[in-house]
Amino acid sequence: MSLLNTNALGVTLGEPLFADLTLTISKSDRIGLVAANGRGKSTLLACLSGEREQTSGEITRARGLRVGHVKQDVPPEALSHSLYDWVLAALPAEQAEYEGWRVDVVLDTLQIPYAHFHTPLADLSGGWQRSAMLAATWVCEPDLLLLDEPTNHLDLHRISLLEAWLATLPRDVPVVITSHDRAFLDATTNRTLFLRAEASRVFQLPFSAARAALDEADAADARRLTNDLNKAKQLRRQASKLKNVGLNSGSDLLLTKTRQLSDRADRLEEAAKPAHRERSAGDIKLANSGTHARALITLDDIAVETPDGRLLYKTGQKWLCRGDRVVLLGQNGAGKTQLIRMIADALSGVDDRVKCAASLVPAYSDQQLSQLPGPDTPLAMVTAQSAIGDQRARGVLAGAGIDIQMQERRIDSLSGGQKARLAMLLLRLREPNFYLLDEPTNHLDIEGQEALEAELVAHDASCLLVSHDRQFLRNVGNRFWWIKGRKLQEVDDPEAFLSDHSAGLGTP
Ligand SMILES: Nc1ncnc2c1ncn2[C@@H]1O[C@H](COP(=O)(O)OP(=O)(O)OP(=O)(O)O)[C@@H](O)[C@H]1O
Ligand SMILES: [Mg+2]
Repeated sequence: MSLLNTNALGVTLGEPLFADLTLTISKSDRIGLVAANGRGKSTLLACLSGEREQTSGEITRARGLRVGHVKQDVPPEALSHSLYDWVLAALPAEQAEYEGWRVDVVLDTLQIPYAHFHTPLADLSGGWQRSAMLAATWVCEPDLLLLDEPTNHLDLHRISLLEAWLATLPRDVPVVITSHDRAFLDATTNRTLFLRAEASRVFQLPFSAARAALDEADAADARRLTNDLNKAKQLRRQASKLKNVGLNSGSDLLLTKTRQLSDRADRLEEAAKPAHRERSAGDIKLANSGTHARALITLDDIAVETPDGRLLYKTGQKWLCRGDRVVLLGQNGAGKTQLIRMIADALSGVDDRVKCAASLVPAYSDQQLSQLPGPDTPLAMVTAQSAIGDQRARGVLAGAGIDIQMQERRIDSLSGGQKARLAMLLLRLREPNFYLLDEPTNHLDIEGQEALEAELVAHDASCLLVSHDRQFLRNVGNRFWWIKGRKLQEVDDPEAFLSDHSAGLGTP
């Protein structure tokens, strides 16, 4: 049974994001919503949930339909609440008073440890914050669930838990999921919507199979276009021959036939639609200014602690040297971000426990991209943070996928992927020789992830990074540090960690 229909739905923000979208969402649908960064996935979800008005077309919802929408970003106002209170506050006041047990049930099914219940969300890792947002949506018992990039910030263990949780949802609650994680989409969806500016396409298939079907359909469109244009060319050739014969013989019949042939050629050319060509969402480029120092970062058996002073692990004696691309492995909450922050503080001179080479020019991006203040504009940030003038700033921004209209808009109106691309651009403009990256692939589309991977390797960049993307960390890392048993252990490769955690064996 259909719960929600869109008819010729379109949103235009400067230029059309998508148009003429006709989609039916029925019970038991698990729909993957796929498109490159900035193409309107989050915008479409906001229209489906009724938070945003479409520009054209209609949305029909089943009477009383409750739509649960887990957004791509954690709302800032949530951060001062404890995890439990935030979920409880999602319930209507009366229910919150008498049915608080619902919160415990949901937190239990999502396997959120009791130790986190009363911690302010600001002090929890990005992964736990996302789990809290999901719990706050699910506790309201929606009839339709919209998940915007739900695997961002989750470690592999939590991703497999989320997959398992989705598999246990009542079949009559449809779920729409946007994601750039191919394995996750394959595991959780049975339909795929490729959102496009003109002709979006839906397949009754999970992502990988749908992607193959889409490529085939696009190739068939391209062949049809070539055929139609060839046919039109032939018709015109015949028409011009016939015209000469007709003019010489003075035959009206031949002239009429000539006109008919030209009309047919016109019609074919008019109807011929160019095949879809995927536009890039912008370049990701990095720089590496080099350094003579060999050891860039020295960890002298320092203690990594939670913000409230609980020991998480000791680092042992570790050096990060020029050309090292170290991947920090560990489950959510193990203390990856704590170490990254400690190093960032040392780099900015606030903390002296980590020793840094004097010639280090760091590029640091945190998990929430908090280096990008929402009210600022991309153009103002680029000109303030680099020596390049207005004109060049506009050029490099456009190259990074931030087009002219977006350059002077508030950063908080950019899509998640556009923000991530802007963050990478600002890092490059610092001409760093060391990258400190906490989950840099969050929000990036597949092309963006691959570009970042290629740039880090091609520039022989020195970096310390955290990522839960299996493919990314395997391709980028040449050293691996695993937070295990209260120690930071060097391992040869990430495979033991990956198989432990994707099998769900990591301690919760
Ligand atoms: N309030 C707004 N005003 C103007 N433009 C906006 C606004 N919100 C979003 N946009 C623009 O609309 C486009 C689509 O944004 P949206 O967040 O829907 O993309 P997305 O497909 O979800 O991308 P991502 O993969 O990066 O999350 C982007 O170009 C974005 O900059
Ligand atoms: Mg989005």
